[in-house]
Amino acid sequence: MLTIEESIQHIQLGGVVAIPTETVYGLAADASQPEAVKRIFSIKGRPADHPLIVHIGSVAQVNDWAEDIPAIFWLLAEHFWPGPLTFILKKNPQVNKLISGGQDTIALRIPSHQKVLQLLVALKCGLAAPSANRFGHVSPTTAQHVIDEFGDDIDGVIDGGACEVGIESTILDLSIKQPRILRPGQISQQQIEDFLGFPLSTIKQQSPRVPGMLKAHYAPVTPLVLVEKSALDSQLMKLLDDNLKINVWSVSRPQLQHTNIFWQPSPSDNKQFAKVLYHQLRQFDQTAANITLIQCPPDLPEWYGVIDRLTRAAAHFSIDSFRS
Ligand code: TXA
Ligand code: MG
Repeated sequence: MLTIEESIQHIQLGGVVAIPTETVYGLAADASQPEAVKRIFSIKGRPADHPLIVHIGSVAQVNDWAEDIPAIFWLLAEHFWPGPLTFILKKNPQVNKLISGGQDTIALRIPSHQKVLQLLVALKCGLAAPSANRFGHVSPTTAQHVIDEFGDDIDGVIDGGACEVGIESTILDLSIKQPRILRPGQISQQQIEDFLGFPLSTIKQQSPRVPGMLKAHYAPVTPLVLVEKSALDSQLMKLLDDNLKINVWSVSRPQLQHTNIFWQPSPSDNKQFAKVLYHQLRQFDQTAANITLIQCPPDLPEWYGVIDRLTRAAAHFSIDSFRS
């Protein structure tokens, strides 16, 4: 584990250090050092056209990275920063396109975790930092998750405890005329609309500009299937018939009990659920189970961030492929 001082040295020398944020851990390097940014892409196994978020320590740094900034940005930033909200703005032409995956826009965020804020204020540079997981895998929410994932491939980890929010920041695109959410998170569309006093655009974008928006992402190793509460027992019965071992994450214990069912209670509160989601997916990957069933959360706006991650984590799998 690294101290803040050690991390500053590594980053200034072009190193890659894992940092805690309130959402998930990030894999950070000095955004103004192209070689350091390239190391992030190669360690993560991330395609070069998938842009990174630049984390900054103060609103005064925004002009270093963006230009042609709409007035509502300053109001939103004052209200929601530091915090789990990332803005897409028009990129300052001086900024290397390596960070933006070749695009003319840039993603910016001031995180609220005290340790990373301390680091950012001391460094005075922008930190390019994607989530500290290998491309397509589950994001890390503890320092141990990062060590499990990367070991000695990185220069170290700042231990900031378990992330408070647990899922990645909400991404709001302000680079276009009609602002829209590109990735849902703890800060909901409703909260942003209430603050702005007008609705956001709901037009879906075409290309996968946001890798977290690829249909299959955040994937655990153990196949994951989402199940309605009412269908849980019948699905379990069929899977047991096929002699499978099954992880179950549901609010209440299934009526069916069996040595091949490993049940864990899931939180009924959306914030608590988001906080433990990635840890629980990693835990389920450690069991001997062949499949994980997760009870679908309620279809309510405060759950949209969690539903988005669960749907993508489950996108590879269908329950029928497990039936003989
Ligand atoms: O909470 C978070 O946002 C975490 C922590 C570490 O800050 N970071 C994170 O980074 O989730 P990453 O790289 O896993 O996801 C960043 C997302 C990607 O989906 C990326 O495509 C999108 O931000 N993004 C970055 N720049 C963009 C741009 N110019 N236009 C559209 N999307 C962009
Ligand atoms: Mg990610």
